[in-house]
Amino acid sequence: MYALKGNIVHAPKFGEVEITENGFITIDDGRIEGIYPKLPDGFSGIHVIDYSDKLILQSFCDMHLHAPQYPMLGMGLDLPLLEWLKTYTFKTEAAFSDNEYAKRVYARLAKELVDSGTTRVCMFSSVHTDATVLLMNELEKAGITGYVGKVNMDRNSDPCIQETTEQSMRETLRWLNGCDVFTKIKPMLTPRFTPSCTNELLEWIGSLAKERNLPIQSHLSENLAEMDWVKELHPDCEQYWESYAKYGLFGERTIMAHCVHCDDREIAALKSNKVTVAHCPDSNINLASGIAPIRKMIECGVSVALGSDIAGGAHLSMTEVIASAIRASKMKRIQSEWQTEFLSVAEGYYLGTTAGAKFFGFKDGFASGDMFHAVVIDDSNMCNAKEMSVMERFERSIYLAKKEDIVAVYSDGIKIK
Ligand code: GUN
Ligand code: FE
Repeated sequence: MYALKGNIVHAPKFGEVEITENGFITIDDGRIEGIYPKLPDGFSGIHVIDYSDKLILQSFCDMHLHAPQYPMLGMGLDLPLLEWLKTYTFKTEAAFSDNEYAKRVYARLAKELVDSGTTRVCMFSSVHTDATVLLMNELEKAGITGYVGKVNMDRNSDPCIQETTEQSMRETLRWLNGCDVFTKIKPMLTPRFTPSCTNELLEWIGSLAKERNLPIQSHLSENLAEMDWVKELHPDCEQYWESYAKYGLFGERTIMAHCVHCDDREIAALKSNKVTVAHCPDSNINLASGIAPIRKMIECGVSVALGSDIAGGAHLSMTEVIASAIRASKMKRIQSEWQTEFLSVAEGYYLGTTAGAKFFGFKDGFASGDMFHAVVIDDSNMCNAKEMSVMERFERSIYLAKKEDIVAVYSDGIKIK
């Protein structure tokens, strides 16, 4: 058992941060034991890592990002979604047929995730089985936890990465066989989005998910042209979500990214099917898709967490994504003639940490019994600790902290930076 000492800030509830100034968080066998203002007598002999006046925050969960788009951050963002995919994205992903290149890029990505304090992810790879295993290996080596998916795509793509239906099925099984060696990174089935997959493939993925109890990730109602296209492809479905639901791809273990244009009916379906929404504000705005109505979703009881969606989003850092979610929510408030509440910093922090962690089975905030995931922020370059409260310093850190300010990262009970 050991303890970390510092200013502990966590989000046990949506909209509430709990602060323990100059407190202790005790860790036993990688799991959180408790948070104390003073170390209890019984613990007096344990090793204390003294972070003195620094901030100890929950580490971040990126619930939607595309690893093979890491080399194209900030590229082509003047195009709308479908043109951006055709012009840049598919071609960038095609390069991951080269394993050497994949290993190099993914090692850099894993390092930047750690440096940014992201320790739990739900990540898209490309269609390439070997590069996907290399990606999982790099993440696992770096100490990151979560899910990665080999993408399935057997229609309406670019010839440079499109699979045949048979190939997509065969390669998915080969990939799953190669995943047994990993302990921190697990497989997640990843039909790219409805237009990329034939009905036969979607049906097969749905039965595989059921048979092997695997989680699923995809995209939903991101862009109006995309939604019209889904209507054409699935005339039997009244709404986009039904194209997933009819194949068993829309349930408790599903993450749907974006959900920008979900109306009341689609939001009710997200809720009743217990689907988690990955809100990606940076991407929503970069691709001018719109801004997801997450306040309404949360009020309706839908689970909402945050994603960077690189490279639709241009920033990997989840503090930037949280700040972006807050700004997007304020635009939504302005657009709605002040009818919609914006996100507070406390709410944004919850969405970027606890909300995502719940998908992986974690409890609320720094909860006893959960594996320890945390970042330590040295804000001395941006704040004068003597003049500000810990809450004010926390707020500034969410808006301003850079990788250099994140001086330690703990993931799954282990110090990884
Ligand atoms: N929809 C299908 N593929 C993608 C992708 O790579 N990025 C985003 N933002 N939306 C998608
Ligand atoms: Fe995406």
